[in-house]
Amino acid sequence: MTTRTAGPIISPSILAADFAALGEEVRAVSEAGADWIHLDVMDGHFVPNITFGPDVVKALRPHSAKVFDVHLMIAPADPYLAAFAEAGADAISVHVEAGPHIHRSLQTIRTLGKRAGIALNPGTPASAIEPLIDMVDLVLVMTVNPGFGGQSFIPSTLETIARIKAMTAGRDIDIEVDGGITPENVGLAAAAGANAFVAGSAVFKGGPAGYAERIAAIRAGAGGTVAC
Ligand code: DX5
Ligand code: ZN
Repeated sequence: MTTRTAGPIISPSILAADFAALGEEVRAVSEAGADWIHLDVMDGHFVPNITFGPDVVKALRPHSAKVFDVHLMIAPADPYLAAFAEAGADAISVHVEAGPHIHRSLQTIRTLGKRAGIALNPGTPASAIEPLIDMVDLVLVMTVNPGFGGQSFIPSTLETIARIKAMTAGRDIDIEVDGGITPENVGLAAAAGANAFVAGSAVFKGGPAGYAERIAAIRAGAGGTVAC
């Protein structure tokens, strides 16, 4: 059920895309070399911003065959997991901080046949997810405080990434970083142990003509070879 890829995985976040043309944006970034498409779902409660729900994920699904990497910044998450699965999510990440029954949420995601991800905020220690390691296919380490694109990478998260890398040694678990990732700093996250890289502003800022070049630059910064 896992879809691990050799080399860095680049997951552009459509939070930084043109919301008036999301279908075209997803198509363009897929053709430009994205490995996954990162979809940020915010509820105005768990995070101080609101984005979109399962209907938008469903509407975007025909525009790309790439892995839909759905990042739920919502609380509660459980009532919506089936809807996101049915909408076409391939991986669904829930926050460890988002509720008292996170183990149940991860069980539900796997029961729905999707890759289960656990996300953690910069203020949360790596140890918070240790009891959940058997339940996850993906760990999403927030490298900014979730809620908005365009923030600066928080360096203390490198230690969290390294701890999670050690914790997941020998297991088929992706370690994904999210927030403030650029071609310049992505190498630090890769060196700490991340293999999947979300990038919003660093991909979308500047428009579609530069998507391929900017994805390639992030891939190269993460230590990957540039292939199209
Ligand atoms: C933040 C989101 C991120 C965000 C990343 O709450 O989870 O996925 O879109 O955007 P950049 O790359 O601009 O920091
Ligand atoms: Zn995200």
